[in-house]
Amino acid sequence: MTDALEESVAALAERLAAASRITVLTGAGVSAASGVPTYRGSGGLWRGRRAEDIATPEAFAADPGSVWAWYDERRAEIARCVPNRAHEVLATWSRRPGFRLVTQNVDGLHERAGTEGVIRFHGSIWDVGCWDRCAASPRRWRDDTVPFPELPPPCPHCGGPLRPGVVWFGEVIPGDAIERAVAATACDVFLVVGTSAQVHPAAGLAVEAARSGAFTAEVNPDATALSAALDLVLPGPAEEVLDRVDRALADR
Ligand code: OAD
Repeated sequence: MTDALEESVAALAERLAAASRITVLTGAGVSAASGVPTYRGSGGLWRGRRAEDIATPEAFAADPGSVWAWYDERRAEIARCVPNRAHEVLATWSRRPGFRLVTQNVDGLHERAGTEGVIRFHGSIWDVGCWDRCAASPRRWRDDTVPFPELPPPCPHCGGPLRPGVVWFGEVIPGDAIERAVAATACDVFLVVGTSAQVHPAAGLAVEAARSGAFTAEVNPDATALSAALDLVLPGPAEEVLDRVDRALADR
């Protein structure tokens, strides 16, 4: 770790120690060390694929079987992964009053690490819903089946196709997630971890937090669309940097 990074770790620890309201926004990078591929960048899930061919209602309507094949494979892959040190540190911090975690991740690893009350901005890959929104079924429910014996899996209520419980491009973020995430921008420290900050409205939350007076910081090995606008940038992998920050907090 460079001296500059050590200084930034100490600076963030100081801010966190003094804060009564902390909000963390996470993206795919937080799960990279667990073996869950990110969406963009080398080895990313969208590399060589158009997200619009997989992650949109239009793609599903045109070919539900092949969209499901992609999600079924992702679910099997994620089921084999375990939370890493970054998830663990955030789970520990989540026990502090005034802590809120907003995630764009659909993998459920924050919850598996023990974080409660996660604000899921893009839904969950472990949820499903009836594509036809039949009257007998709830909007979403959890189904851990891996792999599904039939693709698309049938709705147990009406026999029509089920859909993955994630938010696709062109769909609206669930109202309660938006409300809770916007409320969470009123905080003392807003920390962005492992997101390229290219997808809105999630990327705008940090800007909103800064506008409300929060100290803003980012943990990411690469510069992002947000880096220049934030108060502090900690360049490095989340599993290492958050571990350092956690230890700096414990040493205080
Ligand atoms: P991206 O794949 O766009 O960005 C991942 C970020 O993680 C990049 O900025 C990497 O530099 C960073 N990264 C990689 N390894 C890391 C590590 N070990 N520690 C910290 N950071 C690391 O993923 P998201 O920003 O989450 O939405 O993508 C946002 C949304 O776009 C996703 O929720 C998904 C996608 O389309 C939907 O599917 C609706």
